[in-house]
Amino acid sequence: MNSTNAWHSDHYDNKLNFVSELGKGVVELLDPKKDERILDLGCGTGELADQISQSGAIVTGIDLSESMINSAKQKYPHIPFFIENGENFQLREQVDAVFSNAALHWMTSPSKVITCVRNALKGGGRFVAEFGGKGNVERVIQSLTGILHDEYGIDASLLNPWYFPSIGEYSTLLEQLGFRVVYATHFDRPTEMTDGEAGLQHWLKGFAGNFFSTLTDTEKENVLFKMAAQLRDELYINGSWYIDYKRIRIMAIKDSL
Ligand code: BEZ
Repeated sequence: MNSTNAWHSDHYDNKLNFVSELGKGVVELLDPKKDERILDLGCGTGELADQISQSGAIVTGIDLSESMINSAKQKYPHIPFFIENGENFQLREQVDAVFSNAALHWMTSPSKVITCVRNALKGGGRFVAEFGGKGNVERVIQSLTGILHDEYGIDASLLNPWYFPSIGEYSTLLEQLGFRVVYATHFDRPTEMTDGEAGLQHWLKGFAGNFFSTLTDTEKENVLFKMAAQLRDELYINGSWYIDYKRIRIMAIKDSL
């Protein structure tokens, strides 16, 4: 995950626990088997690593955030967790599968990530991942970008920490780097924040801190107030904020050559 984003494992577990909830479908696609060795790349606080381990698979989790890894270690002491950079890691032993949920969009050098994943996998091993695709959180970004520019002269594109590729772009990279893409889909998933009016603020606090880093508290409140006013008609439905997620879900097999 991006090092400039201050990750707080408590906020992640208490307000943003939908992330691992929605990742359960990706675990189904992974279909882990007993005794398989599986790496969870960008494991956060470890919920899905734990779910994968319940199949009898032997799971290891890595994440760049120390706070997330400390929390994961506390909650799931039976699983080894390590602080590692997804763009530059090496495993001692190759694994049968690399799994990743809601993490790859924080890694802005995808070729480096895919190369590390390839090196981590045995020949014929599978890479199963879900992350934000082209157009992800587009309305939120548009609103934030306009307000930061108009109110404070800030160019939000310089602060954007995310990588949201198209399915063609990502599949092409995988093919170029030695994978065969056997499943790929790019779908809309408006995602409900469960805490009423505060949902937009909680999402921004958890994920979009980079954009707010130079603002005072009063300025942050002003941006939030204006965003809520702009987005309400489209994204606030029956008392909940819905963030305009668009996901890519893929499975790719490492070429045996
Ligand atoms: C996502 O899961 O799509 C996402 C999370 C945080 C920021 C942007 C996107």
